[in-house]
Amino acid sequence: MIQSYNLKVDIPQKNAYSYDILIGCNLLDSVDELVNKYSFANKFLIVTNEKVAGLYKDKIAIDKANWLVLPDGEEYKNFETLKLILDAAVKNKLERKDCIVAFGGGVVGDMAGFAAATYMRGCDFIQIPTTLLAQVDSSVGGKVAVNHEDGKNLIGAFYQPKAVIADINVLKTLDLRQLKTGLSEILKYALIEKSCAAPLNYRLYDFLIQHKQDIFDLNPEVMSKLVHICCALKASVVNQDETEKGLRAILNLGHTYAHAIESLTNYTTYTHGEAVGVGLKMALNLALIRGLIDKGYFEQAINLIDEYQIAPKIPKLDKEEFYNVMFLDKKAKNGKIRFVVPNGMYSVAIVSDISKEQVMESISTCL
Ligand code: NAD
Ligand code: GLY
Repeated sequence: MIQSYNLKVDIPQKNAYSYDILIGCNLLDSVDELVNKYSFANKFLIVTNEKVAGLYKDKIAIDKANWLVLPDGEEYKNFETLKLILDAAVKNKLERKDCIVAFGGGVVGDMAGFAAATYMRGCDFIQIPTTLLAQVDSSVGGKVAVNHEDGKNLIGAFYQPKAVIADINVLKTLDLRQLKTGLSEILKYALIEKSCAAPLNYRLYDFLIQHKQDIFDLNPEVMSKLVHICCALKASVVNQDETEKGLRAILNLGHTYAHAIESLTNYTTYTHGEAVGVGLKMALNLALIRGLIDKGYFEQAINLIDEYQIAPKIPKLDKEEFYNVMFLDKKAKNGKIRFVVPNGMYSVAIVSDISKEQVMESISTCL
């Protein structure tokens, strides 16, 4: 019998709003019971996409549910698709206590969550994440959004779900590239885990060293524990800073670099995870240049990233252009980029006094 995990997100600033994250195998078998435990809805609207519906529609049996199947892809994470979800909610006469269920990866989760945040000023919302990235990151913490033509996730809200139900079995149908996208975020957690201050008995960093093969083999025991550790780290950060006034920004380690890489390659060459993998290396370079970490930890961390093969070799991008694009990132404040930088083993700091030369040098070593 494979162990299941039940964690809580507990947000004290929000009248102690709290919800469960369930992690385990075969949770979809009892999905009707679970969604009815977490929502008193009379009706459910299950939002998914063509790919996930093709693979798993038969496995989801929820009474009183209607389905909305969206086209698959980040390019559909926009107002038009959001309207399709809201139209379906209106057409199905959902009331405020009714529930939108996001069944898919981060794209479906972010859009369905944003629809739930705005429909009747907020109806119930449950996340059933189906990618590794969604299970360890996007389904937890309440960031919901759609893209605008001028920027990713520009229009959104903080809207927490009633529950997150992560069934490890669905990871089996992910391709290697999608798996690695999730792994990049997981390696990010390993580099920030001390700063998350989660009450955990494991060190994720060591877990990743010990269980690499099991992770690539999707060993259900190991994957359940891995998703549990990551969700515990994220929940701890969200509990301390739901709306990113400070600490939550540490979850963006490597992402300022990654967004520049994605933007300069027109979002077509690298997956987000691949860009984050390279971004993590650049952030480690920056930490070394600033003397915030020693060479030993630097080399160990770079080796771990290389062992997981999450950071592809990228072509020579124009450094000046790279630097300028980083300024357009929404993490730039008052003309200064706020960098999340490793400042010790498994810990990070947020700094804004990095010189242009230091940024350029941190980029160069990866180009
Ligand atoms: P995605 O949702 O596009 O899913 C990736 C691909 O996997 C899609 O083709 C999808 O159809 C397919 N898929 C989903 N589940 C599957 C399964 N079980 N088997 C086989 N294929 C499956 O991408 P993603 O990586 O899950 O999420 C990326 C999105 O998440 C981005 O839009 C990003 O902005 C957002 N995000 C949000 C947060 C947050 O905190 N809200 C955090 C990180 C990322
Ligand atoms: N993925 C970043 C965050 O949730 O804040």
